[in-house]
Amino acid sequence: RSIVMATVLAVFLMVGCRGTGNDFQSAFHPASVEAREMAGLGWMMVAVYGSVFFGTMGLVVLALVNRRSNGEAPGGSDRFVLVAGMVVPTVILVGMLVVSLRVSAAMRAPETAFRIEVTGNFWWWEVRYPDHGIVTANEIRIPVGVPVRLELKSRDVIHSFWVPNLHGKMDMLPDQMNQFWLRADREGVYRGTCAEFCGGQHARMGIDVVALSEDGFEQWVQERTRTREPGDARGKELFFSTGCAACHAVGGTQAVSNLGPDLTHMADRLNLAASTLPNTRENLKRWIVDPQSIKPLSLMPPTEIGPEELEALLDYLQTLK
Ligand code: CUA
Repeated sequence: RSIVMATVLAVFLMVGCRGTGNDFQSAFHPASVEAREMAGLGWMMVAVYGSVFFGTMGLVVLALVNRRSNGEAPGGSDRFVLVAGMVVPTVILVGMLVVSLRVSAAMRAPETAFRIEVTGNFWWWEVRYPDHGIVTANEIRIPVGVPVRLELKSRDVIHSFWVPNLHGKMDMLPDQMNQFWLRADREGVYRGTCAEFCGGQHARMGIDVVALSEDGFEQWVQERTRTREPGDARGKELFFSTGCAACHAVGGTQAVSNLGPDLTHMADRLNLAASTLPNTRENLKRWIVDPQSIKPLSLMPPTEIGPEELEALLDYLQTLK
C-alpha cells in the first residue's frame, strides 16, 4: 500500500511543477510542430505498452484463478505460446519502429530556418543570433510559425538544452556542435532547464523561450539593433569602476568581455541569473550585492558598493533596453 501512496503523492507533486512562464512546462503540452509529433508518439507508447502490461497482468490473474478453481496448473497450447510470445511482440515492435521513423522524418525542417547559437556555461546560457547580429543571454525570442535552427555547444562541461513544450533534450558538448530545428506554433513563454547534471547550480540553470508573433519578433530585432542612447552617466562610470565590465559586455560601450552574460538589453529580460529570479529592481539589487546567497558557487562575485552608488548603478542597468 505504501508504494501506491507514494505513487499518488508523486503524481500530485509533479502536477504542481509549473515554470515561471505562462505555459505548463511539460512535454505533453506541445507548442511546436516537433513537440507535437513527439507527444503523439509518447501517448501512443503509453497506450500500446500500457495495453501490453495490463493484458499480460490479466492473463496472469486468469491463470491464477483457473489454477485455484480446479486445483492444478492449466496446460497451455503451443500455438498460444507461439502467437503471444513471438508474433504479437514482433508486430507491436515493428509497428512502433515504423511510427518512430515517421516521427524522425517529420523532424526534418525546411532550408529556410535562421540560426540561433546557444552556448552552455557554468550556470547560464549565451544566446547569439548570427544572422541578426544580436547577443543576449538566458532568454531566446523566436517568431511563431518560422523554422529556427538551434546550434548548441558548451564552453565548459556537458549541459543539455531542454524546453519540453518545444523540443526534446539535446546535449551541449564542449568540442562538438549539436543542432535541431523547431517551429513554435503558438505565442507564449516556455521555460526550459538544463537536463544534464553539470555541477553546483545545475538546478538553477533555467532559460525562457518567448515565442512572439512575426511582427512582434521583427520589432524586437529592430529594437535590439538600433543605436543606443547613452545611459545614466554616473551609473555607467560605476559599471566600470566596480568591476562589472571585467565580465559583462554592454553593446556600444568599452565593455566587451564575454565571461558573464551580455547585458546590452538586460532590462528587457523576464528573469535574472538564468531564470532564477523575476527581473525586478529589488531582485537585481539583491543579486548584485550578494549573489552567493541566491546562487552559491555562481561565478558572479559580490559587489562592494555604497547604497547611493548602488542606486546609481541600478539606474544605469535599468536603462539597458
Ligand atoms: Cu547545465 Cu546542468
